[in-house]
Amino acid sequence: MNKILVTGGCGFIGSNFIRSLLKSHDNVSIINLDKLTYAGNPENLKNIEAEYKGRYTFVKGDICNKEMVEYVFFNFKPDTVINFAAESHVDRSIHDPNIFIQTNVLGTAVLLSTAKKMWSGDFESKRFLQVSTDEVYGTLPEDDKSVKFTERTPLQPHSPYSASKTAADCLVQSYFDTFNFPTLITRCSNNYGPYQFPEKLIPLIIHNALNNKNLPVYGDGKQIRDWLFVDDHNDAILTVIKKGKTGEAYNIGGNNEIQNIEIIKMILKHLNKPESLITYVKDRLGHDRRYAIDASKIKNELGWEPKFKFSDKIKYTIDWYLSNGDWVKNVISGDYQKWIDKNYK
Ligand code: NAD
Ligand code: TYD
Repeated sequence: MNKILVTGGCGFIGSNFIRSLLKSHDNVSIINLDKLTYAGNPENLKNIEAEYKGRYTFVKGDICNKEMVEYVFFNFKPDTVINFAAESHVDRSIHDPNIFIQTNVLGTAVLLSTAKKMWSGDFESKRFLQVSTDEVYGTLPEDDKSVKFTERTPLQPHSPYSASKTAADCLVQSYFDTFNFPTLITRCSNNYGPYQFPEKLIPLIIHNALNNKNLPVYGDGKQIRDWLFVDDHNDAILTVIKKGKTGEAYNIGGNNEIQNIEIIKMILKHLNKPESLITYVKDRLGHDRRYAIDASKIKNELGWEPKFKFSDKIKYTIDWYLSNGDWVKNVISGDYQKWIDKNYK
């Protein structure tokens, strides 16, 4: 793992990954290929190019563009690919599924075929890691907490987002099964932390509460997610790159199931804002009720466990948004407002 092609590195998880990897690993250089969609923000990696001269390169480009991906492979010769690039918001996939199929499925197909071609059958010390999601497994019953997603749970996605991620996972797995191509898949639960775009639950609630706006709660608000701090996710990805067995998938989770409404109340308490801001709205279509990860495989086989406590890191995250009002102001463009109007009308 010396030269890493990171795709989607200007988004939430990818930018946190790049920053911490460059800091912790002197021997690693990174090329970041990102299309800079509404969710990709070069501000997330401000100063990184200057701070890590010669070790970090940014290329603006689309993973669906075969010539662009070949250009990056030809010039940079990565030995590792970590594919974060995706359309990642479930609600947007309900309004417009097509771009999800384009980037998440066809983009992954281009990366796979290009890596296979450019590595010319020499897969020794090469790695292709697909950053997937627990949402590929579908939903769990809320009345039996002993049932969680394992890597053997059948893939049963419900949203166009999770269906597109599932299709990509199947394609990645097929490259291992057919070509012995060195794939790894990680399936993580919901992340939170700095630099998350304020369309996702936690940053949206923080932003709205700070501005005394209504807090939209879908349905009864009792849906459950298994929340993990973004640095824990990224640490797990590194562990899988270093120690994972090719051809395998690894679940990543925080063992931290919380109902949406509880999180919203925690945020309000920390910000000292009234619960009267909570507004119940129409439920999301096809809304998955509960996600919960059984992460015993990655723990037992690779020795990874989450390090951070939700009670500490949720406060840290809220405080990060409080101190980074300029960042939020910059990402909330006219397009963001159009999205809010469309989704919450
Ligand atoms: P994000 O939406 O914040 O960032 C996605 C990034 O990909 C952006 O920088 C965007 O510009 C880039 N991108 C989009 N389309 C592209 C294309 N065609 N070519 C190149 N770049 C493109 O997403 P995120 O929350 O950082 O998620 C990253 C990955 O992790 C995704 O694959 C997602 O499915 C997965 N994941 C996310 C979570 C979560 O809670 N956020 C949990 C599990 C897995
Ligand atoms: P989200 O952050 O979109 O992540 P995901 O859908 O990938 O889990 O949503 C997290 C949960 O919060 C999900 O159950 C939907 C719910 N939610 C709301 O209740 N209101 C909102 O405005 C948003 C964006 C999400």
